[in-house]
Amino acid sequence: MSPLIIQKNYINGEWTAPRDNATITVYNPANNDILGIIPDLGAEETESAILAAHRAQDDWAALTAYERGGMLRKWYELMVRHREELALVMTLENGKPLAESRGELDYASSFIDWFAEEAKRSYGRQIPSAQKNRTLQTIKQPVGVCGIITPWNFPAAMITRKIAAAFAAGCTVVVKPDHRTPYSAIALVKLAEEAGIPKGVFNLITGDAATIGGVLTQHDLVKKISFTGSTPVGRLLMAQGASTLKRMSLELGGNAPFIVCEDADLTVALDALMAGKIRNAGQACVAPNRIFVHEKIYDEFVEALTLRVRALKMGDGREDGVQLGPLIDQKAVEKMEHLVTDAVNKGAHLVLGGESPGQGSNFYPVTILSDVSQEAECEQGEIFGPVFALSSFSDDAECLARSNASEVGLAAYVMTQSLRRMDFYTRGIECGMVGVNSGVISFAAAPFGGYKQSGLHREGGEEGLDAYLQTKYIAVQN
Ligand code: SIN
Repeated sequence: MSPLIIQKNYINGEWTAPRDNATITVYNPANNDILGIIPDLGAEETESAILAAHRAQDDWAALTAYERGGMLRKWYELMVRHREELALVMTLENGKPLAESRGELDYASSFIDWFAEEAKRSYGRQIPSAQKNRTLQTIKQPVGVCGIITPWNFPAAMITRKIAAAFAAGCTVVVKPDHRTPYSAIALVKLAEEAGIPKGVFNLITGDAATIGGVLTQHDLVKKISFTGSTPVGRLLMAQGASTLKRMSLELGGNAPFIVCEDADLTVALDALMAGKIRNAGQACVAPNRIFVHEKIYDEFVEALTLRVRALKMGDGREDGVQLGPLIDQKAVEKMEHLVTDAVNKGAHLVLGGESPGQGSNFYPVTILSDVSQEAECEQGEIFGPVFALSSFSDDAECLARSNASEVGLAAYVMTQSLRRMDFYTRGIECGMVGVNSGVISFAAAPFGGYKQSGLHREGGEEGLDAYLQTKYIAVQN
């Protein structure tokens, strides 16, 4: 077993082993082998973690941004040094191919690198006063203890994107990773400990999501929640946090339109679509969901996509050349089966894939559906799997209206060689992020987040630090 598969939690600088009858089993989704266990902790331990974070808060905030940035840099260097072991842990628990795990680790560590520097740039400002004898200024201060709830699809990057920003701002944290992919998160804690992050600053707890989430959202000492996950859970956390007016950063579901205009370069468009959709077997909130292709190039596009998909290699992420791993669990496979059947019942054509996997297998074949109707469930909501749902359009205004006919608005993609069309779509689309001629939009230096019910606030970029700071205004009479 990898020394970075650690079956413990971390509260107040102490490693907590699982107790009898209070464990969660973690499986490898590629073969359903048991990888290990983790503690199944509850309300009492969540409270202890919050108190530890609270006790550490003032001393952590009192360090200079240079001191905190220095520790972040050491943490970053340790992540880089242990990249290969961390990648194996991630592939074992999440199923993504090793090459993708390495890519995610580079993405994850880039947030630490970015926020180690951003720590030094939490500027306040001097405000010109209307009266001669007054000085008006603002300073930025950390919001305080943060509850961080992260998903299984990017088990390292979703943690560092939040925590590196929180640490840079001077906040302490209690993290609850998803129980299906806890080992990447725990390994990151181990490396943070080695980097010298003081006790109580970084606490990690595993257990029942509803119990831990309930305590974090309602506790008076927790000043902010940052969550990545589904829109329904985001709504629930927001409702729970209302009684203490919890600050909330929410990165929720998407339903990304991928628009291929009549003037698009087809090779560029196919590269972008494959990059965005095949990443993590489509299990990403920014994955292209509704693929709208202009009717003049529709047949050619479907044919070329089918050739690309046929060439993909699916398998255990540890095997050479594998481009797609399994889905996270059986429920995810059942969801793909349901969405494909529903779309076909509503008039879609099954171009490729769609066969059910063997009993117990978490692998689902990459599937292409054409002529998907607007009523199909896979058009109404997030697919979160390797199903390409295509339909044609004849007019840009109609395509924009259909793209915006969604209660969520996270990412969108536009393939065009026309500046006029680029402007039309990028301004008109109701989404927080737009990729033009690219399926890759996520970078540490850029603000990640959505419009409408895709969430609140941004992660990454300068906005990512701001989410963990509050502004104090000071008026001085000289
Ligand atoms: C997500 O799908 O939750 C995040 C994807 C990204 O950061 O690119």
